[in-house]
Amino acid sequence: MSFNIEDYLQRRKETVDRTLREYLPPDKPKTRLHQAIAYSLYPGGKRLRPVLCLAASELICGDYRNALPVASAIEMIHTYSIIHDDLPSMDNDDIRRGKPSNHRVFGEAVATLAGDALLTDAFYLITEKLFEEGVSPELILHVISIISEAAGSEGMVLGQMFDLEIDRHRPFCVDKISDVYLMKTAKMIIASILSGAILAGAKEKELLKLKSYSEKIGIAFQIKDDILDIAENKDEIQKSLDKTKTDTHTYVSVIGIEKSEAKVLELTNQAIDELKSFGKTPNPLIEIANWLRERKE
Ligand code: IPE
Ligand code: IPE
Ligand code: MG
Ligand code: MG
Repeated sequence: MSFNIEDYLQRRKETVDRTLREYLPPDKPKTRLHQAIAYSLYPGGKRLRPVLCLAASELICGDYRNALPVASAIEMIHTYSIIHDDLPSMDNDDIRRGKPSNHRVFGEAVATLAGDALLTDAFYLITEKLFEEGVSPELILHVISIISEAAGSEGMVLGQMFDLEIDRHRPFCVDKISDVYLMKTAKMIIASILSGAILAGAKEKELLKLKSYSEKIGIAFQIKDDILDIAENKDEIQKSLDKTKTDTHTYVSVIGIEKSEAKVLELTNQAIDELKSFGKTPNPLIEIANWLRERKE
């Protein structure tokens, strides 16, 4: 039977959404804080990181169910990161996923708290659900340590800091930009895949290959995001809304669209090569890598 990536992504996304709705039912949120959380969590975006987490688990043990709480928690961390990323003191973005960003609806203070709550609740969800599932405390701690390291001051938050300070690194070079992308975007993608694989009982050798795969697709994903942003920013309305965005420090602004596209292709192919030894076909992680390279949004 042929593998349909769109169909696969849709089915996994729905599974993640069901788990998220258990954490926070979207209708009638009980407080304004929960309203603000629900506003950014639903309908949400691609759910890429949780789907990668499930796909990694499937690749290792043939089942993704044990990884669902972790996958959902990772989406919560991602949601916190974009709420804070859009704040006036950060990227000052008024629009996210085609609707007003969280702080434009709930105000900066509530948006900040919604992000804080999502980050904290993510770890509560992991401990509570994995413990309920009978996962060993050692494994729970291992997964928490991987995710918290990737999200914190040695990972995504450091990447956001690099992004704030990037102007100090003129003239920009692609190596410096790659470092920023590794931190702000790839670290959480790596953690998504490794945590799914670890929960499924992956061996050290498998984890090394998965880490290399995820680092490459993580950086490629952010370069592709820049390429898509350029297309989007041609829209005048978006441009006037993006008041403070200079976009002078992206991969595309330094080496141009064509070379950036070539880099995305090179990284995607290298990532796929890392997974060939798993011998599984179809391998959803390979299909996802190709889908990410070709995506239009
Ligand atoms: C946006 O991530 C922020 C980046 C790290 C580039 P996504 O493109 O995964 O966002 P959604 O969740 O699908 O909207
Ligand atoms: C967002 O990066 C990265 C994180 C939220 C960690 P960007 O600022 O480049 O992404 P968009 O364009 O706002 O989604
Ligand atoms: Mg940003
Ligand atoms: Mg931004």
